[in-house]
Amino acid sequence: MNIFLIGFRGTGKTSVGKILAQRLNRKYIDADEYLEQKEGKTIKDIFEECDEGKFREIESDVIAELCLQNNTVIATGGGVVIKEENVKRMKKCGVAILLEADADTLYKRIKGDITSTTKRPGLTNYGEYQEIRYLLGKRKPLYDKTADFVVNTGKMSIDEAAGKIASFIE
Ligand code: S3P
Repeated sequence: MNIFLIGFRGTGKTSVGKILAQRLNRKYIDADEYLEQKEGKTIKDIFEECDEGKFREIESDVIAELCLQNNTVIATGGGVVIKEENVKRMKKCGVAILLEADADTLYKRIKGDITSTTKRPGLTNYGEYQEIRYLLGKRKPLYDKTADFVVNTGKMSIDEAAGKIASFIE
């Protein structure tokens, strides 16, 4: 079984995923990085050259490919739950762990991340804070429906979050 980390940008999927993989002695794959390597361009470029729809198609292909992995910790992109086919695939070949935090915490983290403006394309015209609130509200039911286990990373360290997930898995 694979372990898919799902959740909004800034919830700590990458940092928690790396520690969790070490702890469980499993391989770690970042789905966004895998996608960029496969396409030979950045996510931002894909959004600019095509559109979000094209990105979501490629993202679905990536999830299908990553489902062929075994015993791997996979950090997904924040919008992976939008497509029902991704949810079905992830649940079939693994468990889904939801990382969450409130909008204010996410805003602070995303703003403090210097790669965020270069790496993460805007998804609406609302401005960062309103976008977080809007998309969190829209995606929350999808995240909740998909999750087998939930960890709130707003209230704990990366190590603690990885520890909680490890105890759930073991
Ligand atoms: C997205 C989140 C990003 C990336 C893409 C779209 C989203 O991943 O997949 O920019 O829709 O929330 P992270 O959650 O790793 O930033």
